[in-house]
Amino acid sequence: MADFINGFWNLYVQGIVAFGLLFCLVVLLANMTSRASGEPKLQGHVWDENLREYNNPLPRWWLYLFWATVIFAVVYLAIFPGFGNLNKERGLRTEYAKEVANAEQQYGPLFTKFQATDLAALATDPEAVSAGKRLFLTYCSQCHGSTAEGARGKAYGFPNLTDNDWLYGGDPATIKTSIESGRAGVMTPFGETLNGDQIKDVANYVRSIAGLSSDATRAARGRDVFGANCTVCHGPEGKGARSMGEAFAALGAPDLTDSIWLYSNSEESIIDGITKGRNAGPESVTNTMPAWKDFLGDAKVHVLAAYVYSLSKK
Ligand code: HEC
Ligand code: HEC
Repeated sequence: MADFINGFWNLYVQGIVAFGLLFCLVVLLANMTSRASGEPKLQGHVWDENLREYNNPLPRWWLYLFWATVIFAVVYLAIFPGFGNLNKERGLRTEYAKEVANAEQQYGPLFTKFQATDLAALATDPEAVSAGKRLFLTYCSQCHGSTAEGARGKAYGFPNLTDNDWLYGGDPATIKTSIESGRAGVMTPFGETLNGDQIKDVANYVRSIAGLSSDATRAARGRDVFGANCTVCHGPEGKGARSMGEAFAALGAPDLTDSIWLYSNSEESIIDGITKGRNAGPESVTNTMPAWKDFLGDAKVHVLAAYVYSLSKK
């Protein structure tokens, strides 16, 4: 049952429940008239020419039904929590906690077994993969989609996990690190250091190396802007941080030359990203991968890592 933030709502619920019950009792008692002796009196109303109404009490069986509902309500309140915070140890939340404990008992040993298995091997175990898929649907699909294909170049940069193109790395250990500790690739904003033309030029250059249509003059000028500002993270050829070696992988700067995009690849969207940056303060899009280690624990993270790894192996 609800844990209210202060005592007021608790009293409020108790008040309404108690008032409701008392009201029913009063109405019932007030209608406990017994049948008057002698000829029953007519009320004086007439319908359909000859239909008249007597002033008789409710039939007993009917009245008893009302009493029964009141008694039922009291018994129900005693067994289930409905009276504010009283009796809350029988609440749904406790039921839920019991179910979780049961599940833990039932599946705990299974996860412990999985945990002891090497990730690459686990990714070929159908039982582990289907457990991982269930976890993924519960915890990851809001962002990465139920098929793990991400947002695919829409407004939000949720990466596709099935395409073998990785921001941070697709080996089992790196995938596990991404899930355990979370990720937040930072791109510095250039709105203050570059002028509007330079930003437009470099955006055209980015589109050109990705094989998209671009303004050739702007793209040619943009190449220098790129060389001076972007290569530290995206690499000298724009092939992404990982192209510069494992030491740079943690930067998470994507390969800009392939057809796989985190965000929309329209000129407008690219310009917006360059101007405001990513994960770089209030102006920019915040696009982070939460850390799951504390919330899910190592065993579940392990199974999830195996599942994600299995997806890219198909
Ligand atoms: C709130 C949205 C969100 C949720 C929920 C989420 N992720 Fe992510 N995930 C992201 C974002 C955003 C990135 C990219 C981070 C970046 O660009 O730096 C990412 C990156 C990743 C990566 C690294 C991909 C690469 O290319 O290197 C993996 C692996 C991953 N997520 C797995 C998971 C798993 C497994 C779960 C569920 C336990 C999960 N994510 C839940 C948003 C989310
Ligand atoms: C400090 C490192 C860093 C620098 C410098 C940097 N970037 Fe980035 N860039 C990133 C990261 C990290 C991301 C991914 C952001 C995310 O995960 O949300 C990114 C994303 C992008 C994207 C979106 C790619 C996609 O797939 O949607 C474009 C385009 C881009 N950068 C262009 C540039 C250009 C042009 C410059 C130079 C003017 C530049 N970047 C400088 C780190 C950097």
